[in-house]
Amino acid sequence: MSSKEQLLKNFELYVERNLPIVEGYHPHFQKALGEILLAGGKRFRPLLVLSVVDAVEPLLIENSYPVALGVEMLHTYSLIHDDLPSMDNAGLRRGHPTLHVTYDEVTAILAGDALNTDAFYRISTAPLSASVRIELIEILAKNGGSGGMVIGQAIDCEFEDKRLNLKELEFLHVNKTAKLIAASLLMGAVICDLDEKSKNSIYNFGLKLGLLFQIQDDIIDATMSEKEAGKPTGNDEHKNSFVNLLGLDGALAYKTEALKALHVELEKLDKKLANRLEVIVKGYFNG
Ligand code: IPE
Ligand code: IPE
Ligand code: MG
Ligand code: MG
Ligand code: MG
Repeated sequence: MSSKEQLLKNFELYVERNLPIVEGYHPHFQKALGEILLAGGKRFRPLLVLSVVDAVEPLLIENSYPVALGVEMLHTYSLIHDDLPSMDNAGLRRGHPTLHVTYDEVTAILAGDALNTDAFYRISTAPLSASVRIELIEILAKNGGSGGMVIGQAIDCEFEDKRLNLKELEFLHVNKTAKLIAASLLMGAVICDLDEKSKNSIYNFGLKLGLLFQIQDDIIDATMSEKEAGKPTGNDEHKNSFVNLLGLDGALAYKTEALKALHVELEKLDKKLANRLEVIVKGYFNG
């Protein structure tokens, strides 16, 4: 088994053993949280956290699982809310009916709220030094909130049926998706206590990786079936997506250029880390 597969397998076991436990007598709230966390997904962001640690400070890998889970919880909350009728109105996620379909909107909204908050609890109680935990919390809050994912989502929804230019679209995608991906890598670097220069290089690589990730997601919407994607496709009709702005061929050409730019950033990283990240890039983007 490759180190990537091993990390993914261990993370999955960690998730299974550390699902949220909700006290009280709510008939399905705990079940809803567990279902969406276990529904699968690529685990792209936790893999990034863990891959940096495994490449640089492997002795800290066990201590990093709560951080990886925290990042996945925040990401999962963003998906639950993204699928709500008031946002993208999607009935399928990770191959399963969305929480507002299985239960109701109240459950979906509050499950998202819980995962958002619980994410920070997991990180704040990880077996790491207090200064590292504070830095991790700062990074996730900065990149996941109004300075990152949330403003990206707000712009995405506000500008439905209003055409953005390419610069504006890049701003949207960097915020809604790339910053959380860059933050995941940076959090791995913080756990390893890397210097400022290395942390900057890793974050900048992450922004390019994250932009590429959202371009690919836009291409998936235009080219895959619902069954293949595990979520509704052809759903971006009213959105500012790379495919809607540039056409499918244009988006594919943009992806090729973005992959090249990514490799330039990869060269700037420590060799061992770069090799690990290259495997992830190859596996996911075929390039
Ligand atoms: C979907 O994220 C939303 C985007 C930011 C593109 P993922 O493609 O990582 O979704 P999962 O976690 O694999 O389900
Ligand atoms: C959502 O982008 C990004 C998030 C921050 C959740 P999309 O709306 O394109 O994600 P999918 O296609 O529904 O997974
Ligand atoms: Mg959306
Ligand atoms: Mg969506
Ligand atoms: Mg999408």
